Amino acid sequence: MKKPGTTGPKPPAIECRGLRKSFDGVEVLKGVDLELRHGETLVILGHSGGGKSVLIKHMNGLLRPDEGSLLFEGNDICGLSERRLVPLRLKVAMLFQGGALFDSLSVEENVAFALKQHRLCPPSEHGDRVAELLELVGLEGTQSKMPSELSGGMRKRAALARSLAINPQVMLYDEPTTGLDPVTGAQINRLIRSLQSKFGLSSVVVTHDLASATFVADRMAFLYDGVIRCVGSVDEMIASGDPVVNEFLTLGNVKRA
Ligand SMILES: Nc1ncnc2c1ncn2[C@@H]1O[C@H](COP(=O)(O)OP(=O)(O)OP(=O)(O)O)[C@@H](O)[C@H]1O
Ligand SMILES: [Mg+2]
Repeated sequence: MKKPGTTGPKPPAIECRGLRKSFDGVEVLKGVDLELRHGETLVILGHSGGGKSVLIKHMNGLLRPDEGSLLFEGNDICGLSERRLVPLRLKVAMLFQGGALFDSLSVEENVAFALKQHRLCPPSEHGDRVAELLELVGLEGTQSKMPSELSGGMRKRAALARSLAINPQVMLYDEPTTGLDPVTGAQINRLIRSLQSKFGLSSVVVTHDLASATFVADRMAFLYDGVIRCVGSVDEMIASGDPVVNEFLTLGNVKRA
């Protein structure tokens, strides 16, 4: 433990140490070690059903490991009660795989949800803040629409605006481009990049879309058989010579930068 007032190297934004997680006797995570550095975009790649969503849900305390620890800025969050996790969830936002908008609420009500729930700004300012967030994701003027009236890409953007309402330090994106056409997917990827540069966000992007991965990633981590098999830049991944990683990248037509 660092003494108050002393300085030292800044701990990673998030660090997984030996994370293990089983469901119904089946071990999904078998000892995951991984760090998210400040300001970077880290992509987690892996096969369908390999545990990517399970891993990312540990990063904001939605799931708790059976073994191992999860550190946020150097502090272990695994033993925290739900109540004590609230401040963490106000720093680490998540865009869920399915978007997860409330279907019975308008776009405005969806985006304002966290503002109200956590009293993040006075009610008189909600309208302006929602407008600002919708503009940020390119959805200006859609406040009164219902989620069912939005296209898949618009739903992702609205969900992203809702996640950003808390002014997070870390964004966790679970499959942000899956199910979108390539042009809409590319718009979302540019948005991920612009949020990183505008706000200095540290981000984790889970995907099996390799074109998106190479566009947004500063580093990539390959989750395979419950552990991180390889981590590094695109070139480092290719140069690793690991046949399992190479097969995955070759099938996705990933080439050196
Ligand atoms: N809450 C849960 N209860 C029981 N099993 C679960 C739970 N969440 C995930 N699993 C199981 O854990 C395994 C990994 O699931 P996960 O959703 O993390 O895969 P994934 O890599 O995100 O896949 P995809 O690319 O298809 O989204 C699957 O076998 C899944 O059924
Ligand atoms: Mg998933």
